[in-house]
Amino acid sequence: MAAQGRCTVIVGCQWGDEGKGKIVDVLTEGVDIVARYQGGANAGHTVHVGEDEFVLHQIPSGILHDGKRCLLGNGVVLDIQQFFEEYDALVARGIDLRGRVGVSERAQLLLPYHRLLDKAVEDTAVQKIGTTGRGIGPAYEDKAGRRGVRVVDLGNREQLEKRVRIAQERVCRRLEQLGVATTEELDTAMAEALGLGDRLLALATDVGRNITSALLDGKRVLLEGAQGTALDLDHGTYPFVTSSNTTAAAAATGTGIGPTSIDTVIGVAKAYTTRVGEGPFPTAFDPKMDERIRTLGGEFGATTGRPRRCGWFDSVLARFAAQVNGLTGLAVTKLDVLDTLHELQLATGYRMPDGTVIDGFPADTWSLSRVVPVYETLPGWEEPTGEVRKLESLPANARAYLDRIAELANAPVRWVSVGSKRSQIIEVA
Ligand code: IMP
Repeated sequence: MAAQGRCTVIVGCQWGDEGKGKIVDVLTEGVDIVARYQGGANAGHTVHVGEDEFVLHQIPSGILHDGKRCLLGNGVVLDIQQFFEEYDALVARGIDLRGRVGVSERAQLLLPYHRLLDKAVEDTAVQKIGTTGRGIGPAYEDKAGRRGVRVVDLGNREQLEKRVRIAQERVCRRLEQLGVATTEELDTAMAEALGLGDRLLALATDVGRNITSALLDGKRVLLEGAQGTALDLDHGTYPFVTSSNTTAAAAATGTGIGPTSIDTVIGVAKAYTTRVGEGPFPTAFDPKMDERIRTLGGEFGATTGRPRRCGWFDSVLARFAAQVNGLTGLAVTKLDVLDTLHELQLATGYRMPDGTVIDGFPADTWSLSRVVPVYETLPGWEEPTGEVRKLESLPANARAYLDRIAELANAPVRWVSVGSKRSQIIEVA
């Protein structure tokens, strides 16, 4: 499948878990390079190839296509142990990775003390975020605090040891303040992580330069976002967000290319909404419906196994995602999960506590927890869609639902996913 631009960004329009991995996997067929630009092992992209299921946390989902080059940009926080665990597992399953994976010399290393601190902070917090416990917040804090350790530092042992020692001591002091004892396990994990340094250095490259020269040579590139718009550090439901910019503009800074190189931005949105972790979720279902859709959609976190909260499609959020990301198109996923519903609801606005109705996504997260969505009801299609491969073959009510999503979100629907398999996709001409 190749209907996309020369440099395409794939972003999540909701709170992550929109099925970006599946869309990236499908679109990779038509590109030469796939690169991640932010986040770390907090992401969990589940991809089905034939009967096989792959869950990828660090390596771009494009890796499952023979011969494609997969890069991790400077905006990523790279968990060196997790990265090689995944790398080796792919090789063990017969995927040829030789010459196919590159990591930015400028990417930040996520080290074992970041994971430890993430868990300790979360366990002792009064206001929990519900993080994935993968060390993401502390690693980005170190980056912004200019204490981080980057891939390129692995080549300078003296500098590396100094920087790691200072950063680790600081973390240990914070852990002590939180009443958490550091154990020998941390030293073992650190030795293990840094022991992989030379192996990682062998994959280090200048990602921005790679992508720019590939584009100049007429090649096609896909930039793969992790998490979603509502988890963006600036634009999401702060503070219940991740610690990176998940939105499309970050694809340029997170890989080292100029924004004018990007010509297409595809937003991935589930046909309903889910959220994992803490924070407001205006269109949440009632408990019975929540359970029903969670079971039908298999809505459990790919990274943590946590049950995801489920709700109706929120077009206020989708419209906001179209604006923040400059979407040129939408990929709507998991439409088939709604096949058995008699009726569906779409949120078109939010009623504020004072009775006014707004159609923009509010900056004030606390008021978002008190809004009541304004719903529009649409008839269900009550027919299976998993085998449909053409838009015209979808039931009329399913098409009407997609049309309404496109209208409310202000972006055309370009792809519809109707199941987890690679083949279960409809390309809208
Ligand atoms: P962190 O990114 O682990 O710090 O978690 C911050 C928030 O983002 C929490 O609510 C997580 O549940 C959420 N989050 C992080 N990564 C993902 C993801 O890949 N999918 C869905 N939610 C995520």
